Amino acid sequence: MTAASAPGKVILFGEHAVVSGAPALGTAIDLRARVSVEDLPGRTEIDVRGLGLRLSGFSIDSDGRVVSLGSSEEAAAAARYVSAVVKTLGARDVRITVSSDIPVASGLGSSAAIVVATLAALSHHMGIAMDVRSIASEAHRIEKAVQRGLGSPMDTALAAYGGYIQISDGVTPLDLPPLDLVVGCTSVPHDTRAEVARVQELKSRYPEIVDPIFKAIGVISRRAVMCIKNLELDELGRLMNINHGLLEAIGVGTRELSELVYAARGAGMALGAKLTGAGGGGCMIALPREGETSKTITAISQARGRAFAVKTGCGGVAVE
Ligand code: MEV
Repeated sequence: MTAASAPGKVILFGEHAVVSGAPALGTAIDLRARVSVEDLPGRTEIDVRGLGLRLSGFSIDSDGRVVSLGSSEEAAAAARYVSAVVKTLGARDVRITVSSDIPVASGLGSSAAIVVATLAALSHHMGIAMDVRSIASEAHRIEKAVQRGLGSPMDTALAAYGGYIQISDGVTPLDLPPLDLVVGCTSVPHDTRAEVARVQELKSRYPEIVDPIFKAIGVISRRAVMCIKNLELDELGRLMNINHGLLEAIGVGTRELSELVYAARGAGMALGAKLTGAGGGGCMIALPREGETSKTITAISQARGRAFAVKTGCGGVAVE
């Protein structure tokens, strides 16, 4: 049996603006997807029970196609990612078991972590040499293919390398200290493709308004790198608040997200809070004042969010 794990992620700054070339900053968090591979003569099976989803137990045919799908869309999606890796590596006669602490379909990089961990576990099991760099680029190609063209390299790069990554012209790993954040998830599902399309449409309708917003988000993103480096947390919190306002200005905020953002900021518990990822649903992040993590979690929970503490800058893919 071979097992590997890879982390989920949050985008700290720069979402949407990055689509038009501004830098974005993301970080790996201490929630992981785990994939184990064992020999199963005569059959290939994918078990996604460990994702906490309604259905499990998929079979795939010898071409790597999923031949039995269940009722849960998330389970089907997870099986599709794993199946794409099986096909890429030409694996057969294996049982692949997936489990994960990363909430699915929340913009926290669950699918990228599953693809990266599956590539690592399966290649190791098959004796195929893959370094982290080739895992990252292959995972990006697979995620993009399964998502029909969508997918920035951010999620797969963070799942592979861990730490912090800045995306602008290319993918740049940054050496920055860890932070304690709180993630708050709304129960509203979101559609990254639709949010990106809506923002790009707004930009082509009002370029003279949206371009400066993207430029400002880019400035925030660059400045945030220095703040994290020097642990200037008050300023980092202020930058999160400004970035959230700019994301609201381009229409990706929702009432549910803002309720969680304001709950976290209320009574001065968080130094800053913003939505993370594509918006339109999904999750927000808060930077709690020192010693205020559990109060921030309580405040977000009282506003009907699912809240949990995370550490940033965590390690990338690992064969266990
Ligand atoms: C979504 O996680 C981040 C966006 O910037 C889209 C992207 O970069 O592909 C909204």
